[in-house]
Amino acid sequence: MDIDSLLKRKQDLYTLLKSQHEAEVNEMNHYMSVLSRLNNGIIKNYVHKLLDDGLRHIEYISTMMTTIEGASSSLNLTKQGIIKSIDEEKESRDLLLKCVALADDVETKSLLKSIIVDEEHHIKILEHIEELVSKPG
Ligand SMILES: [Fe+2]
Repeated sequence: MDIDSLLKRKQDLYTLLKSQHEAEVNEMNHYMSVLSRLNNGIIKNYVHKLLDDGLRHIEYISTMMTTIEGASSSLNLTKQGIIKSIDEEKESRDLLLKCVALADDVETKSLLKSIIVDEEHHIKILEHIEELVSKPG
């Protein structure tokens, strides 16, 4: 096979992977939106399984796309990107703090607080990633 055909195949594969990436994200959004309305434990477990698989598929597909893109765009984990993520997590935490202040029932308050604890943890993790990325090697 000549080089043009090979490149065309790669480009076509990339386009299809990109579509599949979008499809997986859409599926996951849909599953996440129905999750809270499910009462049946078995069905809930199934939907969790679909979400777990979806996340794994997105990871695989992203890796394949990065490989095709080449090393040049494998710098998705840039310092700037991480700092943006830290800001987003902090915004989430601050928004949730406002929610706690407005929530009246104990159960809602404690659930919101547990999410805040997670967000604080996410911030710590991202700050550690930032440190690791800053260091050479
Ligand atoms: Fe988070």
